[in-house]
Amino acid sequence: MAKYRVGIIGCGGISKSHCAGWQAQESVEIVAGMDVSEENLKARCDEVGIPNRYTDEKEMLDKEDLDFVSICTWTGLHAPQTILCAEAGVKGILCEKPMSGDLENSKAMVDACEKSGSKLVIAHQRRSMSDHHELKQLIADGAIGDPVAFEWHTAGGLLNNGSHAVDTMRFLMDNIPVVWVVGKAERKTDRYERGVRIEDFCMIEFCFENGTRGLVTVDLPDEPEPPMKDAVLVGTEGMVRMWHNSIKVLRLNEAGWLELDGKKWNPHVRQAEDLIRWVEGGPEHNGSGRRVLPTMEVLMAGFESMRCKDIVKLPLEPGPSPLDIMVEDGTMPVEVEGKYDIRAKK
Ligand SMILES: NC(=O)c1ccc[n+]([C@@H]2O[C@H](COP(=O)([O-])OP(=O)(O)OC[C@H]3O[C@@H](n4cnc5c(N)ncnc54)[C@H](O)[C@@H]3O)[C@@H](O)[C@H]2O)c1
Repeated sequence: MAKYRVGIIGCGGISKSHCAGWQAQESVEIVAGMDVSEENLKARCDEVGIPNRYTDEKEMLDKEDLDFVSICTWTGLHAPQTILCAEAGVKGILCEKPMSGDLENSKAMVDACEKSGSKLVIAHQRRSMSDHHELKQLIADGAIGDPVAFEWHTAGGLLNNGSHAVDTMRFLMDNIPVVWVVGKAERKTDRYERGVRIEDFCMIEFCFENGTRGLVTVDLPDEPEPPMKDAVLVGTEGMVRMWHNSIKVLRLNEAGWLELDGKKWNPHVRQAEDLIRWVEGGPEHNGSGRRVLPTMEVLMAGFESMRCKDIVKLPLEPGPSPLDIMVEDGTMPVEVEGKYDIRAKK
């Protein structure tokens, strides 16, 4: 019999990967699923073979005595559902990215889990990919000399894909502190992504405490095609190119690109496995809430830089999203009426 009982909150798209990650663990059984959509609940539970089904997360937590919960809902629900799980005594919580919609809620998630003793992991799965682990080690070993600057272009909102960009850079730099952030964003249309307000386009630049810079651009117009997931890291003695799920490293005085193997293990399986190990007393997870929280701080500082029209030195005081503040106080008014969500599903 499995040792641990797992529940899934939110049975939409990404829950498939979470279920696969849990199902690969011998010590685990997914015993319960919860979704407000009975259709999505039935589809995922039937597919995966989850016996107990709920449309209310409190009822599931009350009845199921869960050890682990995956939170696979939209951004705005991550904080309240994480806090509910922590208060219910769930041992390990695997919550989807972005952590929440702002720094205040993200900090509240970490605080609630620290208080209850729950281990919180945010599913920035690049922290669990084999090629990213190898690259982190190569950088630490000086394979490209001193890292000088990352440049990362993506789309779909700063909080959405931009959060992966910032978080990956921070992971590769061994989570060393970011000292300042400067940002520029525009929002003339009433644009949302999975229910959270996003900008039309933006760019942020930030500086790690060792002087390495990170530049992230999101939704800038690119012709003829957007360079999705296109990132480079330049070092004093080499460079790294991250392109469509492949990572290649070029070193001075060595011929050719070294391609890293991203398929040594499945990141979703690794993510769950490392959370179980952490709960059992092993090392803190690479993607722990505590480690990912500064990613939210960098993202929010980008918007805060726009709001205060200045460079923002960290730490940033936890609060609501400066993007929300600017829209709501009229300093960034919607000029093209008509609210829309770039990823909205029924
Ligand atoms: N790590 C990644 O690379 C990655 C990839 C895709 C999505 N995501 C993240 O996963 C999250 C979910 O995205 P998705 O694409 O799976 O969305 P989705 O719309 O496919 O699924 C969300 C599910 O949540 C359900 N839901 C809505 N309100 C609920 C509530 N109150 N309680 C429980 N369930 C509720 C919906 O009915 C739906 O089934 C987002 O935060 C997204 O950013 C991450």
